[in-house]
Amino acid sequence: MRVLVVYYSQTGQLTDIVNSALTPLLNDPNIQLDFEELKPSTPYPFPWTSQQFFDAFPESFQEIPCEMEPTAIPDDANYDLIIVAYQTWYLSISIPVSSFLQSEKARHIFKDTPIVTIVGCRNMWLSGQEKMKRRLHSLSAKLVGNIVFYDKAYNLVSVYTILRWMLYGKKGNSGVSQKDIDEAPKFGEIIRKSLSSGNLESMHPELLQSGAIKVVDNLTSLEKTANKLFSFWAKFVRNKGGPGDPNRNTRLKLFAFYLLNGIVLLSPLTTLIFYITSIFRLGKIKADINYLENVVYEENRFIYN
Ligand SMILES: Cc1cc2nc3c(=O)[nH]c(=O)nc-3n(C[C@H](O)[C@H](O)[C@H](O)COP(=O)(O)O)c2cc1C
Repeated sequence: MRVLVVYYSQTGQLTDIVNSALTPLLNDPNIQLDFEELKPSTPYPFPWTSQQFFDAFPESFQEIPCEMEPTAIPDDANYDLIIVAYQTWYLSISIPVSSFLQSEKARHIFKDTPIVTIVGCRNMWLSGQEKMKRRLHSLSAKLVGNIVFYDKAYNLVSVYTILRWMLYGKKGNSGVSQKDIDEAPKFGEIIRKSLSSGNLESMHPELLQSGAIKVVDNLTSLEKTANKLFSFWAKFVRNKGGPGDPNRNTRLKLFAFYLLNGIVLLSPLTTLIFYITSIFRLGKIKADINYLENVVYEENRFIYN
């Protein structure tokens, strides 16, 4: 069995997650694991300056690719499974991973291939995974499993701690907990067993049973609202130029101001409205969560309507 793992990580968090989760596959002599770390030609900084951090927003959200270093993956490589490990940037697939998915290489190797996605993020991954499903769909690949690692702290707390981590390099308690990383091999074992038995269909239900995904119910409405607002802001900023263009600095500053204040106000407000109105929408909320936990893809089901 040949398995390809494509991943990108700035701080090393996602690398740690991948290494831990995939231990059972690494230890299986019947599985050959090829690791491919994706590298942008101009690396994204870490820690970021706030200018650079917000400058990544329009292109992340609009899925505009950056220049990437060539990979070592042969064009005619044939894998039994591809594992794509990515982080969300601005409710979207991070630019390096999104860029790879839009490359000719991905078009060759993803076609008709089963895919497992591993997400490592703060806590807002729903729209990013919808964009991932849409990409995989357009590559004629088949998503067979998804595992999500996220920061379980309260939303506003994790906003504060992640900004401190991303902008000043101070990790503290931010990010995915060490406990979750240490327990990740239980998911790898499910992947290994499904692969060995040739029964990939059973993988995702088993992953779900083992807690691979937990949709935080009130974040569904926050992501929907934020998506609509981001769509406006991304166009508004890009009208003034591409990445790094000084002409868009004023609009980026406005976006940053709006985003930070918006999160502080919007997050508690949408949570409150969500819980007050949820009693009238239990069926719809449950259907949304069922869909978001699943690997199926339906156009316009969550974010494009
Ligand atoms: C520019 C940028 C935007 C981000 N946007 C989101 C987001 O929308 N949702 C989220 O849950 N996490 C977000 N994060 C956090 C990342 O998903 C990830 O957890 C963090 O960058 C560490 O990943 P890494 O070191 O493995 O690359 C963002 C991080 C960066 C750098």
